[in-house]
Amino acid sequence: MKLAVIEGDGIGKEVIPAALQVLDCFSLPFEKIPVEVGYGRWEKTGQAISNEDIATLKECDCILFGAVTTPPDPNYKSVLLTIRKELDLYANIRPIHPIKGIKGINESNDFDILIVRENTEGMYSGIEEVGEEVAFTKRIVTKRCSMRIAEIACKFAKKHNQKLTIVHKSNVLKSDSLFLNTCRQVADSMGVEHNDMLVDAMAYDMIRSPQKYGVVVATNLFGDILSDLGAVLVGSIGLVPSANIGKNQALFEPVHGSAPDIAGQGIANPIAAILSVKMLLDWIGEEDAARQVELAVENTILKGITTPDLGGTATTQELTHEIVKTLCSNI
Ligand code: NAD
Ligand code: IPM
Ligand code: MN
Repeated sequence: MKLAVIEGDGIGKEVIPAALQVLDCFSLPFEKIPVEVGYGRWEKTGQAISNEDIATLKECDCILFGAVTTPPDPNYKSVLLTIRKELDLYANIRPIHPIKGIKGINESNDFDILIVRENTEGMYSGIEEVGEEVAFTKRIVTKRCSMRIAEIACKFAKKHNQKLTIVHKSNVLKSDSLFLNTCRQVADSMGVEHNDMLVDAMAYDMIRSPQKYGVVVATNLFGDILSDLGAVLVGSIGLVPSANIGKNQALFEPVHGSAPDIAGQGIANPIAAILSVKMLLDWIGEEDAARQVELAVENTILKGITTPDLGGTATTQELTHEIVKTLCSNI
């Protein structure tokens, strides 16, 4: 199985080596292919990602991705968005799942939300123009992409016996009527119980009453914003993993970015990247291994070992070492 490894920039270079230490605890037949893309590569060569890189990625079964820095240059095209689009990784799955031993913003940890974010269109259409006086971005919603994201969201809702909440802003954005109606039709046809929420009210209620929600399906930008918000429920953005799923391939990455404010200090929380490995293991059908990773993370946290984002003093390496030690003693 071919696994492309993209560390990227900033703390991507710290959390991906940590995640690989965890993956290496299992003897799985991965051929690892390092691919250098991102801002650092752009600074060195003037190119952040090449056609050959895309071709290499297309030949891999899965990708482990750290984070890339987006420079403030209007002509720079995001590497991550390029990969998502080129590989048609249409579903961005972001579990807002409490971790034993960590309290997020609420006192109770009785929630389990799965954000299913449309990953190829919406405000990320790339159709935009910036003029002196006027700038615009075209928001695209298609029936085809709304259907496929609704279908995968409904599959998760059925699998976990959860309700589906369709998030939109159709009171203002007419394009969202198509998204909302399509999601409703798909949910009805698949027999999934559903409701809908305007995105602003959803942001409020998701924090106030997270236990009310199960699978949440949203267009691209709303899903992006709600997932960082969801990280506040879990306790830190350094804890939330994700899977970008396509027809035959998937890319796994922490939800967080390259965090230039803490990069190079060795204090980044590696758990989001490690749990992204857990999602990778689930995706390839290694469910037992995935569960072991999750347990090792939980047990390490229950021992009180955490990085500064959670109030602890452990370094990325110390926390990873403990997780690997716990994992190796269990397998
Ligand atoms: P960010 O997620 O990098 O950081 C937000 C805050 O969370 C910062 O205070 C940071 O220190 C903290 N944080 C993030 N990850 C952490 C971790 N693992 N452990 C501890 N603390 C952590 O968001 P930002 O600062 O808005 O973006 C920085 C750069 O990253 C930008 O160039 C942005 O475009 C890029 N970005 C990339 C991705 C990606 O490649 N997947 C995702 C988001 C942002
Ligand atoms: C994310 C990030 C990306 C996005 C950026 C870096 C392009 O914020 O994966 O959540 O907006 O999708
Ligand atoms: Mn984001």
